[in-house]
Amino acid sequence: MNYDFTFGRRKSSVHIEQDIPGLDGILAAIESERAVLVCDTNTVEMAEVVRGGAAAAVCVLPYGENTKNWQSVEKILRVAAEAGLDRDGLFVAVGGGLVSDLCAFAASVYKRGAGLVIVSTTLLGMVDAALGGKTGFDMLGIRNFAGTFYPAPHIYMPLAALGTLPPREWRSGLAEIIKTLVLDDSFYAAETRGRLLALKPALSGEGTPTPLIEAAASLIARSVAVKGRIVQNDPEERGGERMLLNLGHTFAHALESAAGLGRLSHGEAVAWGLSRACALGEELGITPPERAEAVRAVLEELDYETGTPHPALVDSGAFVQALKSDKKKTRGLFRFVVPAGWGACIVTINNDSLNLIEKISGLA
Ligand SMILES: NC(=O)c1ccc[n+]([C@@H]2O[C@H](COP(=O)([O-])OP(=O)(O)OC[C@H]3O[C@@H](n4cnc5c(N)ncnc54)[C@H](O)[C@@H]3O)[C@@H](O)[C@H]2O)c1
Repeated sequence: MNYDFTFGRRKSSVHIEQDIPGLDGILAAIESERAVLVCDTNTVEMAEVVRGGAAAAVCVLPYGENTKNWQSVEKILRVAAEAGLDRDGLFVAVGGGLVSDLCAFAASVYKRGAGLVIVSTTLLGMVDAALGGKTGFDMLGIRNFAGTFYPAPHIYMPLAALGTLPPREWRSGLAEIIKTLVLDDSFYAAETRGRLLALKPALSGEGTPTPLIEAAASLIARSVAVKGRIVQNDPEERGGERMLLNLGHTFAHALESAAGLGRLSHGEAVAWGLSRACALGEELGITPPERAEAVRAVLEELDYETGTPHPALVDSGAFVQALKSDKKKTRGLFRFVVPAGWGACIVTINNDSLNLIEKISGLA
């Protein structure tokens, strides 16, 4: 399955395929001759499959969010320079969102912009991180503090890579799929909900990969189509539409901060945030109760936490503080995305109504 998008002046093609692509084919497709592969310690074997014996340098980063820093960017840039990569050369990210964010940032600044291809190997990478052009790294204790917009002209999503994905990463990606499908309404179709629930064994590591991956393929394709359409309409998050992708994320980021970064997976926090966004939307008379109930029912069936307060929310002061410092807060207003009669919409809440958010989060 192929999808073509235009993000501002740049084109991005997504290739959802069975197998991990080879470097020769990638280079031929973009008429480049020299490449540097970037991966982490868990995706190095997949990077070797991509390389397939070709003479390309491989930059291996330690896995994990702690790696998402300037030192890693510098390492990628140095490996590329030592390999003699010029501006026509190609950076190939082989990994999840961590590797693609870092590698894409490095590509965007290398000699003022080099070639970039992403081979996405996690569910979250496929349905979210690889697509849409956001790059970056963490700094000053702030996630994605520095970054650029630099969409990859080609993004490969090899389904075979999902065969080794741990349950925690399935859980993380699946929450983002649910969020994305709520945005385009396809979530509410019984067929979609059936497909989502079919992935339950992957969340506990009980399922056999092949049928699960087959079940995931159409959900990945739908999520790519939805995210791509939204980003096309607002490539650099200036007009507001791209902000819809933050559905559930304001609550999720505050929960992650209050729980201590790394304690919950991002997807676990997003799932809880989605249930809270539904509750807020209901309270404001925007989310039809039957829609809120449908979202909560699927989240609960998949064993995501939806209750209040979240068991990991031990420090309510830190939660409120994180809400206040949320970067989406502008001119004293908090912005939340809530499901609506169709898709979702953005609501603004002023400081005086913060107690409503605390109530929705089970803190008041
Ligand atoms: N650019 C964006 O628009 C965007 C959107 C969402 C998230 N992100 C970023 O993405 C990152 C999270 O992405 P992620 O969840 O993919 O995390 P990740 O890249 O850290 O991958 C999660 C774990 O899975 C391992 N892994 C990767 N592929 C594997 C495979 N096929 N089999 C087994 N293990 C595998 C990784 O080594 C890592 O340990 C965060 O840094 C986040 O900020 C970016």
